[in-house]
Amino acid sequence: MKRFKGRVAIVTGAGSGIGQASAVRFAQEGASVVLVDWSDVGLAGTESLMPEGTPVMRRVMDVADETAVAELVDAVISTFGQIDVLCNNAGISGSHPPITEQDVAEWRKILDVNLIGSMLFIKHVAPYMQVRKQGAIVNTASVAGIRSGAGGNAYSASKAGVINLTQTAACDLGGDNVRVNAVCPGLVETGMTQRIFDYAREQEKAHKLGSRCELRRYGVPEEIAAAILFLASNDASYITGQALAVDGGNTAS
Ligand code: NAI
Repeated sequence: MKRFKGRVAIVTGAGSGIGQASAVRFAQEGASVVLVDWSDVGLAGTESLMPEGTPVMRRVMDVADETAVAELVDAVISTFGQIDVLCNNAGISGSHPPITEQDVAEWRKILDVNLIGSMLFIKHVAPYMQVRKQGAIVNTASVAGIRSGAGGNAYSASKAGVINLTQTAACDLGGDNVRVNAVCPGLVETGMTQRIFDYAREQEKAHKLGSRCELRRYGVPEEIAAAILFLASNDASYITGQALAVDGGNTAS
């Protein structure tokens, strides 16, 4: 299936996990792909997984830096002439203390990357989509943005913000046929969850958290990528402003 032949997709957080799986799938489905991450090693690894001959641009940057975002978008337009898909996927999770012990600088950092970073990319990319009257934006939120638990206050608030940003941007851009949607992953086996749960030493805790899911297992990045590509594709041409839970049933119970 080559749903993205002739299209240009930007994927942030493309150096690992869900972003890597999405970027590779976009390439397999015919897209030219712009890989954004603050880890060059990660981006090199992602590019090595792509089909030979895929047009790729790699950019090491912080998604929360507006100057860097604007420069990247200029570079993409100069090189490829268009942007069809934006996946705002880069994210960090933080240390999860109770709110009474929360460090404000960490709170700001999490909002900066997860929420403001997504807003900045929409702000700078959307005008190029509006002019062409076509484009699809997919933000990676989280089930934590739908309902929360103890200790995840900054992360949950940032992801609730991403869901609301998705809805407001869909309203702002819908008149120009630019669709904006979000995926809300449940627990997925990536670098992020490995850092939080430390699978090797805290297997029991990880299993307990994993059982908060009707399918009784963690997701894998490719399962979230499949949903991201669906929302970015013409198969979702009448879907905008939605937050799709891809969570093995986590939010069903
Ligand atoms: P990951 O840690 O494997 O990948 C995240 C990537 O984003 C990394 O390559 C990292 O270098 C990059 N990144 C982080 N901050 C950045 C910044 N300021 N600028 C540029 N690059 C930056 O994590 P994962 O799990 O693949 O996360 C992807 C998205 O999925 C995140 O937004 C995360 O919040 C979300 N998510 C993940 C879940 C999970 O269980 N793994 C569950 C729900 C949501």
